[in-house]
Amino acid sequence: MTELRRATPTDLAAILADLPAYWGDRDVRHLHHPMFVREFGDTAFVSGDVDGYLFGFVAPAHVGYIHAVAVHERSRGSGLGRHLHAAFAAAARARGATRLKAITGAANADSIGFHERIGFTACLIPDYSGPGQDRVVLTRDLL
Ligand SMILES: CC(C)(COP(=O)(O)OP(=O)(O)OC[C@H]1O[C@@H](n2cnc3c(N)ncnc32)[C@H](O)[C@@H]1OP(=O)(O)O)[C@@H](O)C(=O)NCCC(=O)NCCS
Repeated sequence: MTELRRATPTDLAAILADLPAYWGDRDVRHLHHPMFVREFGDTAFVSGDVDGYLFGFVAPAHVGYIHAVAVHERSRGSGLGRHLHAAFAAAARARGATRLKAITGAANADSIGFHERIGFTACLIPDYSGPGQDRVVLTRDLL
């Protein structure tokens, strides 16, 4: 499996320049705040060729929060998403996390299917992101 390293501002620029190859026609530029590589770089991973990346952080309540994970369309289905999650889980555990969490939209069946496949449990939370803004919360214990 390809080697992973910490994501840098240069990687973020490369990702933003090719965003549709990772996310299709969804506009998710707002998910790519520079703090994820500048402040939370210890828990931001990218494959050497930037074929996949994961941005996350460890919240004070010992939760490893996966903010965004994506694999370039040319590299899907080869285990890179799972590999990125494993790297994040190890880093989060080393920083005291006991649980992992991610959120996604109820319509994002691919994200829900992927996360369930790698051990997460999905739960629909009404109004999670405000009135009428339901989200699916994905969690996995790290212990
Ligand atoms: C979701 C995504 C990151 C998966 O990356 P990937 O590298 O193709 O996934 P992997 O090859 O590591 O797959 C790991 C497992 O999940 C399964 N899986 C992958 N995509 C799946 C899907 N859409 N539905 C159900 N299972 C899926 C694989 O079959 C594999 O199972 P296995 O190891 O038991 O054979 C990728 O499809 C992607 O970037 N999607 C667009 C961005 C996105 O929606 N990100 C998630 C929201 S934050």
